[in-house]
Amino acid sequence: MKPIFADDAAIDYAVTLLRQGRLVAFPTETVYGLGADASNPDAVRRIFQAKGRPADHPLIVHIPSVDCLNDWALTVPETAQRLAARFWPGPLALILNKRHEVPLVVTGGQNTVGLRMPDHPVALHLLRAFGGGIAAPSANRFCRISPTQAIHVEEELGDAVELILDGGACQVGVESTIVDLSGNRPKLLRPGHITRHEIEAVLQTELIIVSTQSEQSNQAEMRAPGMMVVHYAPVTEAMLCPVDRLSEMLQELTLRNKKIGMLVYSLEQPENGLTRIIRMPEQTNDYAQALYASLRELDSLQLDMILVEQPPNTEAWRAINDRLCKATSAYQPKNLS
Ligand code: TXA
Ligand code: MG
Repeated sequence: MKPIFADDAAIDYAVTLLRQGRLVAFPTETVYGLGADASNPDAVRRIFQAKGRPADHPLIVHIPSVDCLNDWALTVPETAQRLAARFWPGPLALILNKRHEVPLVVTGGQNTVGLRMPDHPVALHLLRAFGGGIAAPSANRFCRISPTQAIHVEEELGDAVELILDGGACQVGVESTIVDLSGNRPKLLRPGHITRHEIEAVLQTELIIVSTQSEQSNQAEMRAPGMMVVHYAPVTEAMLCPVDRLSEMLQELTLRNKKIGMLVYSLEQPENGLTRIIRMPEQTNDYAQALYASLRELDSLQLDMILVEQPPNTEAWRAINDRLCKATSAYQPKNLS
């Protein structure tokens, strides 16, 4: 399916398709979403088929305004009101206890629902015109790199989606921050553009940080695809490498005639016949915006290996490090052969 420029007529057509229970991909400020009418279980099931995603992985419901929280959440705690007032529309998803009417297929069988009001003119126009909630995971096949441009959606899903609305490249570039407010204490389930400190400043309390690596065995975590250890991953083997080991690693691989792609942001490294180097921005927001398109580009070059320079291990880089760890965790240095 070729992307269509998201003008008024295209958005009207998208609304018609959604009402018929069909799938529409649309831009948000984070990544492109694969949308379906969240109140229609058959439509939502089509999302899982198109993505090849297991049925017990919950979806985020996108809503057109803060007022719609009550349509989906059983109760809206004061903490949710405060975060929504401060950050919506924006790259923050809230997990709340769900109303009885919310289909279980949306929530992967859980009693909580993820909700978000995206900050993108096309997404907001679509949501307002549709007048309901749109369930939308990232518009990629299961465990693959999220799309940040309409063309990526076409590459990922082909004709499995009825319409791809093209709203240009996504500004944020990594998926929303997810905060779980369904229990006694607020938890950070997925780091994103809105940082832990920004959320803690609004809530006036510390977040519990749910760490993917340490909670792998927790079944509830395994239901959350963004929480799985391998995710957002290129097909090419990809390895995260501290800057002081990059040159050595590159040399070793080039000696063995391996074709290498590199994402670097500080290392000065010239390209040669065997290496393709993408220099990433040094500023975190710009790096995040460029990350998935850059990984995708390297992944399309039939390389033997992608080496990624490890960014600093600081709070500002948390979301990027989280995605890079997941994109590279299938391949540890020991697998080098
Ligand atoms: O930025 C985003 O959030 C993008 C755009 C399209 O809005 N969407 C997105 O959706 O990243 P997806 O399905 O790829 O990731 C949604 C994440 C998953 O990790 C899922 O586990 C979590 O949200 N999630 C959704 N509902 C949940 C729930 N009830 N409990 C725990 N986690 C939930
Ligand atoms: Mg996803």
